[in-house]
Amino acid sequence: MFIEHNVALQPLNTFGIAARAAALVRVQGAADVRRVLQHESLRDAPKLVLGGGSNIVLTGDLKGVVLKVEVTGRRVVGETDRHVVVEAGAGENWHDFVGWTLDQGLAGLENLALIPGTVGAAPVQNIGAYGLELQDRFDSLDAIDLETGETFTLNAAQCGFGYRDSVFKHAAPRRGDGSAAPRGLGLAGRALILRVRFALPKAWQPVLGYLDLERRMQEEGVAHPTARQIYDWIVAIRSAKLPDPAVIGNAGSFFKNPTVTPEQCQDIIGRDPKLVHYPMPDGSVKLAAGWLIDACGWKGKSVGNAAVYEKQALVLVNRGGRDHPATGGEVMTLAKAIQTSVYERFGIRLEPEPFIV
Ligand code: EPU
Repeated sequence: MFIEHNVALQPLNTFGIAARAAALVRVQGAADVRRVLQHESLRDAPKLVLGGGSNIVLTGDLKGVVLKVEVTGRRVVGETDRHVVVEAGAGENWHDFVGWTLDQGLAGLENLALIPGTVGAAPVQNIGAYGLELQDRFDSLDAIDLETGETFTLNAAQCGFGYRDSVFKHAAPRRGDGSAAPRGLGLAGRALILRVRFALPKAWQPVLGYLDLERRMQEEGVAHPTARQIYDWIVAIRSAKLPDPAVIGNAGSFFKNPTVTPEQCQDIIGRDPKLVHYPMPDGSVKLAAGWLIDACGWKGKSVGNAAVYEKQALVLVNRGGRDHPATGGEVMTLAKAIQTSVYERFGIRLEPEPFIV
């Protein structure tokens, strides 16, 4: 096993924050993880699983070991009456994987085009965009337990998917003696995802309805788009709205869209009639966090080299590039100031979306 020491993490996180890891091991399969778990000094070190680094904010150097997931491979693994099942290694780039499925003539992931990051990170936050979430196409995944080295498989129910949420974001309670609780209660820091499988529908129907997509259809005069057309539109819509991490460092949406009761929503509308809100199937109402932040006048504002993106207030960006990058502290100071102002004006607590490490 090759252990890299004192590793610069700046190239490994899309925000471009400069931090170092005491050790880093590249993981191509379960055997690499087992070697770490048997290693004298790494066995008990804190472990951070890193995919594409596109949903993480580093607030300092890491004392433990980074497990950089580089499991590769993409293949069709089977089919049922209604689905074709495809599998990808957790280290595969998500967007390239979506393109590859379309190249195989398999539709179903097109609405999730151009989301940064890796296949393995996608289930952790149940990535979603333009009316589709990963859980809508998920079949199962293989992971390895970072305490025992055992591999295991989870289906959708066992992943506990929610809006930008899964069992991988929740810590398992510890037993009284400090030992880990049984697997399944919460897998944050406990599991490394190795491979993910998706069930792509044979009778594909486009997922439309999202305002930006409907607008494109009208502009182009297309009533029945193909999956490839939707893919191209999504790429164009995202490119116009969201900063390309290769050019301006960022971690996508910085906050989750909050959910409120219909009464709370009506109360805000009474004062701010333009509030962007979406009724949810369970009777609650989701609010556009970007709109709330924008309404508080944050677009373009900054703390040091951390700034609010001019075209989308939900995205925080690194204005200092590679040479004078925003620090994790600046990003968090800005984030806290935004949370305070949104709370003071709307009474709503915004919750960060990326992992703060
Ligand atoms: N809005 C503003 N001002 C802003 C930003 C947004 O008024 O500065 C308004 C927009 O006009 C729109 C509404 O807020 O009416 C929602 O904006 P948008 O359609 O851009 O979507 P979003 O809620 O900001 C969510 C996801 C994105 C995803 C898009 C498209 C979350 C936290 N974010 O953003 O996901 O791409 O919908 O489906 O749910 C990500 O998670 O990193 C991400 C980019």
